[in-house]
Amino acid sequence: MDQQEIIDQTATFIKKQLSGESSGHDWWHVYRVWKSAVHIGKQEQTNLFVVELAALLHDIADWKFHDGNDEVGPQRAAEWLQTLHVDDATIAHVCDIIRHISFKGAGVTTAMQTIEGKVVQDADRLDAIGAIGIARTFAYGGSKGREMYNPDVSPLLHDSFEAYKQNQSHTINHFYEKLLLLKERMNTATARQLAEQRHRVMEDYLNQFYREWDGEA
Ligand code: ADP
Ligand code: NI
Repeated sequence: MDQQEIIDQTATFIKKQLSGESSGHDWWHVYRVWKSAVHIGKQEQTNLFVVELAALLHDIADWKFHDGNDEVGPQRAAEWLQTLHVDDATIAHVCDIIRHISFKGAGVTTAMQTIEGKVVQDADRLDAIGAIGIARTFAYGGSKGREMYNPDVSPLLHDSFEAYKQNQSHTINHFYEKLLLLKERMNTATARQLAEQRHRVMEDYLNQFYREWDGEA
């Protein structure tokens, strides 16, 4: 099987697995991450085969939906790639990216070792901010039955993955606990530039949100 066929089959497989998911981790999230990862990856010296596979498989089994277990994703991805007879080095690289891609709290560093990992992490983070990021965040909060906003509950900057995982706070807090921090954490120049505009959209959105909350706008 050639590389293009492997990518096509992986896309079809993931599309089937994730379609209809409503917490913001659906097939269309993966599709956007895949497209941005290719766009960013083309500006860097990357192995695009690894970038595409990791982007497609990065949310195959998120820890948030497996009792906090962050090994399920890499395992499932490896099993799938083995069925397509992908070479071991590529599988190991893709699994390593999936293992390290997630945001784990404001005070927790999640450094990617390879340029391919940096590119896919940037693409995933870009989809967490801007207009789509805002929509996904409220979709996720709704899927968890959380309050949209509660002015009495302040955001927390978590310094451990455990504390971040336990968080049950209202959705507006997520902007301060994660989304507004992402612009500064982009790995590549291309993503940093795209993040600027998306960051401003969130700032404007929050300003308007508070003005409406207090009946000022
Ligand atoms: P990562 O892609 O770094 O693993 P997550 O999967 O934790 O990030 O989050 C993906 C998206 O899901 C976030 O960008 C956000 O839109 C939504 N989300 C995750 N956790 C929360 C939360 N506690 N409150 C609101 N939205 C959340
Ligand atoms: Ni993702």
